Amino acid sequence: MKTSRLVLLIAIIAAVVSCGQRKSDVDTRVENILRQMTLSEKIGQMNQISVGGEVSNYAGAIRDGQVGSILNEVDPVKVNEYQRLAVEESRLGIPLLVARDVIHGFHTIFPIPLGLAATFDPQLVEEGARVAALEATAQGVRWTFSPMLDIARDPRWGRIAEGSGEDPYLDARMAEAMVYGYQGRTADSTSMAACIKHFVGYGAAEGGRDYNSTLIPEHLLRNVYLPPFEAAVKAGAMTLMTSFNDNDGIPSTGNKYVVKDILRGEWGFDGLVVTDWNSMGEMINHGFAADRPEAVKKAVAAGVDMDMMTYGFIGHLEEMVRRGEVKESQIDAAVRDVLRVKVKLGLFEHPYINIEEGAAVQYAPEHLAAAHKSAEESAILLKNDGVLPLKDGLRILVTGPMADAPHDQLGTWTFDGEKSHTVTPLKALEERFPGKVIYVPGLAYSRQERDNFSDVVAAARRADVVLAFLGEEAILSGEAHSLADLNLIGSQSELLKALKATGKPVVATVMAGRPLTIERDLENCSAMLYSFHPGTMGGPALANLLAGDVNPSGKAPVTFLRTVGQAPMYYNHNMTGRPYSGELLMKDIPLEAGQTSLGNTSYYLDYGAYPLFPFGFGLSYTTFSYSNIGLDKEEYKANDTISVTFTLANTGSREGTEVAQVYVRDLVGSIARPVKELKAFERVSLAAGESRTITIGIPVSSLAFYGLDGKYGVEPGSFQLWVAGDSASGEPVEFEVL
Ligand code: GLC
Repeated sequence: MKTSRLVLLIAIIAAVVSCGQRKSDVDTRVENILRQMTLSEKIGQMNQISVGGEVSNYAGAIRDGQVGSILNEVDPVKVNEYQRLAVEESRLGIPLLVARDVIHGFHTIFPIPLGLAATFDPQLVEEGARVAALEATAQGVRWTFSPMLDIARDPRWGRIAEGSGEDPYLDARMAEAMVYGYQGRTADSTSMAACIKHFVGYGAAEGGRDYNSTLIPEHLLRNVYLPPFEAAVKAGAMTLMTSFNDNDGIPSTGNKYVVKDILRGEWGFDGLVVTDWNSMGEMINHGFAADRPEAVKKAVAAGVDMDMMTYGFIGHLEEMVRRGEVKESQIDAAVRDVLRVKVKLGLFEHPYINIEEGAAVQYAPEHLAAAHKSAEESAILLKNDGVLPLKDGLRILVTGPMADAPHDQLGTWTFDGEKSHTVTPLKALEERFPGKVIYVPGLAYSRQERDNFSDVVAAARRADVVLAFLGEEAILSGEAHSLADLNLIGSQSELLKALKATGKPVVATVMAGRPLTIERDLENCSAMLYSFHPGTMGGPALANLLAGDVNPSGKAPVTFLRTVGQAPMYYNHNMTGRPYSGELLMKDIPLEAGQTSLGNTSYYLDYGAYPLFPFGFGLSYTTFSYSNIGLDKEEYKANDTISVTFTLANTGSREGTEVAQVYVRDLVGSIARPVKELKAFERVSLAAGESRTITIGIPVSSLAFYGLDGKYGVEPGSFQLWVAGDSASGEPVEFEVL
């Protein structure tokens, strides 16, 4: 072993011997490494490349210390070879950070993140992220580009699939759960660095068109888009990714205000900031940089540490430092952030993986069980006239393009999901109801056009009940996949209409990457179960739900629109000066109505002012009632905790789980405040007939916001509070903050 590496190793061991990974130890080790690095090696740590094919294609650059991280290699043999080149053939032996998009599972695929959010179950989501980390790290992946925290209020945006929906509080709880799950509550060889993304405001793309500009003013940025990221930083997220969008003309990758001043300055984030794929280079497309050197300079000035696939840092930084355009101290700051992650992950001690052990971890029974439970809890019952749960003994027609679609059921961002492991609804139903299932697909895939369904109709006549599995192919949501029409694609609605005409009870199950506009389809089915692409075990989960072995408990993490023309529509909107108050709809407007006869308020003449289903909505096979909602006081001080007590009763005939939600409204503020904001939720399981008195604490400090003067705090005044099963139900109780 060369002297330099020996010296480095001794330095590291010396530091490690002082036990643990205390911050001071980590920083000591980082400084020991940094002081030995040349400028070229430092810049090499700031360079992330996507690899593929032969390892030898990248050997030279790795040996020369020009690569800090690789992404998109998951063959464990090749990952070990990449690490060996870095650890044993480069001058200082600094290991690589091996990255991959492990977004909702590695091999065992969980529901897409929007589905995970519908569980309102942070503990279960953390378990799922832990499973993803166990499988991914076993194959050498130690950095995932997840969780995505982009608040999404427009379902035309394909990446609504990847986030936790429209609410900052739910988003923050899901973010914390995934950070803890990926990284582990204590760091060890199964820890995978989380990457909170896309910083910031990417989900506000104008028109729901991916990569489009956003226009998020300071108050909205501070009160809606930033809080989930701040929560994730507090949870210890090791890395963060800048977003593609320009907000008010400034691309995030060059936005010093959000990255350096807020993220690092105000929040004290000392993790690694990586660009999105070539987002540094795209500052030229934005017209924010004239050329790559200028883009590089702006990214460094903003506080970016690592360049994903622009080759900007590796191509220009050394010369820019020599010319004095960038200070070496700026490079040192970035390299410290990179090295800190590598030290925290223990990569210097354990750079290699055990390939045999890694293979044994994949698809472990307990992993599949966690994915199964997540898929069960993520499904939302939108309608049920009593046909569900299915009675035993029925002849069942299974139909629709998503009934046996092992690839599409996994959803978007499943690079390492294997459709051969998917259990589809058809397979699960054939096992659950042996000899009772007839299968006629009707449509081979979601986009298929067809105007005659005689074969399906004929089969329906031989059945007692029809289960239609509809939705979107995986490719129709996710990155760059925005839609201007959110109706069921192809001839799926026509299929449902034809089935309805048979007079047989029809149950529609929709698997999609977003809330589609399914109002007209609801009229053509007796029940509808909505499942955001449920992953590997979606089939058994849906079979259990339809059979009633499990009672649906999912709640909408986003608003379901009646029509795409209502977008954007979300529950936590401002009141406006002219809130809707029941004015006439198109169908009721008399002829020659006077110009102002309808009343001038904020609504659509044709589709009104309300969505199809509100945020937080979801039915059950039982019913719940809320009563005796009360607060421990009528007036609170800023450092109090509001104690909310209520009685929740299961008023139906079977056990069930309800997600009780607590919303608050600040009636008057220095800026207009939302009509409602989620401040707490709790999953409560009750036996038939059981009722329970529940108390939830709401810190008054959680009512703080950034007001007109830009200061953060709780403003005294009158408030309303709701406890209900969704964001549109219940009656408020009042309280004052002094
Ligand atoms: C993509 C995505 C980002 C992902 C990265 C690496 O363009 O925007 O979310 O993590 O590139 O695949």
